[in-house]
Amino acid sequence: MISGVDEVVFSVHGDDRGKLIAIESGKDIDFDIRRVYYIYDTGADVIRGRHAHIDLRQIMICVSGSCEVLVDNGTQRETVLLNAPDRGIFIHALVWREMLSFSRDCVLLVLVDRLYSREDYIFDYNEFRSVADAERNEEAL
Ligand code: TYD
Repeated sequence: MISGVDEVVFSVHGDDRGKLIAIESGKDIDFDIRRVYYIYDTGADVIRGRHAHIDLRQIMICVSGSCEVLVDNGTQRETVLLNAPDRGIFIHALVWREMLSFSRDCVLLVLVDRLYSREDYIFDYNEFRSVADAERNEEAL
């Protein structure tokens, strides 16, 4: 995975009745979940996302079906296939993301560390690159 993105794997509690995954803040993920949303009924040719966040951190899990997530930290990019309910990706701040190749049955669950705020979004890719470059330069000092 590129820096700024981590793979996460959740424990599955399974028995003859089926499977269950529990996600607890402070135990399975290191932030307090302040918001949950899910994306479904998305056409196969649709691209969602196309933005970065200034501070927000989130975990994406495809709990049904599959989709791809293109992640870009300003110097590296990668396309990750999400197709399992027990695996996801942790996307840190200042990572550009695009969600694509949705299967008909895809349900993409997103766990977020803060409430919805349009102020935290960067929608312009070039602006994202400048902000990410400035952040990298500051870290290098
Ligand atoms: P949008 O940001 O376009 O979704 P994505 O980036 O995942 O493609 O969101 C679609 C609509 O839903 C838009 O009107 C904003 C609204 N929305 C909320 O009200 N709350 C939320 O937490 C999110 C993610 C979106």
